[in-house]
Amino acid sequence: MMAPRATDRYGSLAIGLHWLTLEILIAVYTCINLTELYPKGGDPREALKTWHFVLGLTILALVMVRLLDRLRGGAPAVIPSLPIWQSRLASSVHVLLYVFVAVMPILGWFLLSVGAYLHWRPRARISPAS
Ligand code: HEM
Repeated sequence: MMAPRATDRYGSLAIGLHWLTLEILIAVYTCINLTELYPKGGDPREALKTWHFVLGLTILALVMVRLLDRLRGGAPAVIPSLPIWQSRLASSVHVLLYVFVAVMPILGWFLLSVGAYLHWRPRARISPAS
């Protein structure tokens, strides 16, 4: 279990990262959903996808910084203290949120890499020049 912070609130880095992550998460979803408005292969659609990838990877980087900050500084104690089941539930939800914001960009990255591999592979096989 993490040691409580000396203060009664999160530090400015944790608070800043929290809101920045939320804003970027909204942008990540907005970009990928706006792609539907544009024809496949068109410049606007590709640009929105690129923004989705870049912003998604930014989230991954921010999560790493946030996790380090959390491991280093812990979290302020909840006062008055919660019943044990509520405290455990809160911790579990917290961990799940961390898993979500770390796993989504990693899965997206994986999807993108596998897609590139699958597109590249058949062309390399059927091309008479290769
Ligand atoms: C927190 C970060 C991320 C979230 C929440 C997220 C979420 C999503 C969502 C909701 C979709 C649409 C799925 C659908 O209905 O078709 C999507 C598609 C996709 N995402 Fe992400 N994503 C994230 C990060 C990334 C990253 C970092 C990459 C790659 C570097 C990536 C690559 C992709 C790809 C390749 C698609 C499919 C696009 C297409 O339809 O052509 N994602 N993502």
